[in-house]
Amino acid sequence: MSDKKLLRVLAGETMPHPPIWLMRQAGRYLPEYRKVRAEAGSFLDLCYNPKLAVEVTLQPIRRFGFDAAILFSDILVVPHGLGQDVWFVENEGPKLAPIRDVAGLKALGLSGMTARLVPVYQAVSDLAAALPREVTLIGFSGAPWTVATYMVEGGSSRDFAQIKGWGFADPAGFGSLTDLLTEAIAQHLCAQIEAGAQVVQLFDSWAGVLPDTAFRRWIIEPTRKVVALVRKRYPDIPIIGFPRGAGLYYPEYAAETGVTAVSLDTTVPTGWAAGSLQGMLPVQGNLDPMLLLQGGQAMVDGVAHILKDLGSGPFVFNLGHGIIKETPPEHVEHLVRMVRGDIEE
Ligand code: CP3
Repeated sequence: MSDKKLLRVLAGETMPHPPIWLMRQAGRYLPEYRKVRAEAGSFLDLCYNPKLAVEVTLQPIRRFGFDAAILFSDILVVPHGLGQDVWFVENEGPKLAPIRDVAGLKALGLSGMTARLVPVYQAVSDLAAALPREVTLIGFSGAPWTVATYMVEGGSSRDFAQIKGWGFADPAGFGSLTDLLTEAIAQHLCAQIEAGAQVVQLFDSWAGVLPDTAFRRWIIEPTRKVVALVRKRYPDIPIIGFPRGAGLYYPEYAAETGVTAVSLDTTVPTGWAAGSLQGMLPVQGNLDPMLLLQGGQAMVDGVAHILKDLGSGPFVFNLGHGIIKETPPEHVEHLVRMVRGDIEE
């Protein structure tokens, strides 16, 4: 039997105290991260420096003893590896030279992608060698829809006007971008698994912005294909899907994509998830990152509520979205001790 708690839960086991890791657990809320980040130069320089990427991945493991380490990287290394210009502007976020029609796709190429991303896979294999044996190594990618939003909008977006405009007006043309990403993302995940990732997570952060039929076409279908392509090479790899904002589509996503487990966003009622999802597959989530920022009684009550609803089935403790950069590290420490049952509240 594995001594990795996360793998056991993803295989269907219920633990008296669930495993815990947090989305964006490596990042700016940690002073030791800010120090390495300042030395690295740009954010992408940090992503492509295996030594520093390994160091910042390990920082939260050393500090808090999480049950899993998530590779330090970004979902935008895939478009970058495909040949799109990607850069990060301090305090603004990612910028990309947008692609808005089929002609724009000509600038992208799948053939050189994994070769360009070798430093990422090097970090994975160095991490696999460095981690304590009870800690699971998680690799990840953005899902096709979410990666496409950044590629088409040219960065973060409020209304997704460009991508919806293209997808609704020219579904076949937009479909060729989705097909390219489906293949690229499967290859990127396989390369991480090959290098030593033991679980992979698919981040679909913008799954919640699509109407009915479009959700099936641009979220469920491409995700199902990515999962199938990865499983062709690695039939037993656990895959966690995070369709943030999927709401009433969570059960359909869970049943039809083939993912091993689903990560619940902050808004999913845990009592409902216990009855409608956890009987089908393990679930992960979903403390509001704002409650972790707040700490104190509000956080304690939020954690207790989640543990009561989801703790009696296969469950991985996490946030409902990434950690906020102003979060005091002491609150994270408190959270871990609570979930571990080291302190009674
Ligand atoms: O979880 C981890 O600790 C692993 C590392 C990780 C990062 N990004 C590091 C990062 C992971 C898993 C991601 C995923 C990611 N990246 C997503 C999906 C999850 C989500 O948050 O919805 C998305 C949408 C991105 C794209 C992205 N990267 C944006 C929009 C931004 C800017 C927003 C921000 O918080 O500044 C980033 C930058 C980024 N990715 C940072 C980190 C630690 C902060 C940049 C910095 O250190 O300067």
